[in-house]
Amino acid sequence: MTITSTPRRLSSDLPPRPPESTDAPAETPAARPLRADGAAALLVEHVSKRFKPGRKKKVVTAVDDVSLRVERGEVYGILGANGGGKSTLIRLVSTLLTLDSGRIEVFGHDVTRDEMAVKRLINRVSVDAAFFKKLSPYENLVYAARLYGLPARDARREAERILARLGIARTRLGEPLEQMSRGMQQKVAIARAILTSPTLLLLDEPTTGLDPRSKLDVQAFIEDLREHHDATVLLTTHDLAEADRLCDRLAILDRGQLVVEGTPDELKARVQREHGLPPTLDSVFMTWTGRSLDDDIDDDDKDGA
Ligand SMILES: Nc1ncnc2c1ncn2[C@@H]1O[C@H](COP(=O)(O)OP(=O)(O)OP(=O)(O)O)[C@@H](O)[C@H]1O
Ligand SMILES: [Mg+2]
Repeated sequence: MTITSTPRRLSSDLPPRPPESTDAPAETPAARPLRADGAAALLVEHVSKRFKPGRKKKVVTAVDDVSLRVERGEVYGILGANGGGKSTLIRLVSTLLTLDSGRIEVFGHDVTRDEMAVKRLINRVSVDAAFFKKLSPYENLVYAARLYGLPARDARREAERILARLGIARTRLGEPLEQMSRGMQQKVAIARAILTSPTLLLLDEPTTGLDPRSKLDVQAFIEDLREHHDATVLLTTHDLAEADRLCDRLAILDRGQLVVEGTPDELKARVQREHGLPPTLDSVFMTWTGRSLDDDIDDDDKDGA
């Protein structure tokens, strides 16, 4: 799992939070008001990225003229078969890859021209761990918090609070990370990304490979983030139930192209109305990609990071 992050953000990088509306509807996930005013948390405009894997190989268009907008406070999911371009898009947003064409902005900061400001506003959690494996979860978190400039006492308190919320038993907090399961390590990675109060959290398959219990813990934690923190989440997943549960809006990337976007309920209603199919995300996926979630576009691609 890799965490991409840079030291504490400057307050000048971030626009002030817009005031909450006083006549906002009840804070249910469905009715939660999104903060549509001001700069989008993430703006992606006509973005393309091509790879040429080898001299004799064909150019692959991993991301093909994609445009989307994610509002502050929103959980936005990207679905798609293997090789659809999800990780490439996440890596473009995180400045790990450069764009071929188009424009990406994070809170109004252009990823190409203003890379440092963007790095201060994002955290990426993906599949390969980048930890101090001899240190415990607690030590890893406190270390990260100190690195981000939190005072020691606050760092310790935050680390304890977040680890407890993730369902990691107190008795395990001091064990070296290398002795822990991958599920546990994934939870610590997310905890570490959250500890530093990222504004745009990029989660590339955060629950893939976790056991059912750990998966539920991590999902509950993402829901909690959505309700109680000033975090915006861009999430990829192969788990349609997870997407349904967590995401305010979804997009499907198919062969690099964004083929459909909407709230889970909108998409389910559309597939029923327009295609006479059961109102499920399985039908939605089938309709707009022409395949079931288990079919691969590109079996060779397992780079994931
Ligand atoms: N560094 C790279 N060099 C060459 N080709 C790449 C590279 N990274 C990705 N690709 C290709 O770009 C396409 C999209 O890959 P990407 O990893 O973004 O898909 P994905 O939707 O994340 O897939 P998965 O669900 O398997 O994680 C694939 O065809 C892949 O082989
Ligand atoms: Mg991927």
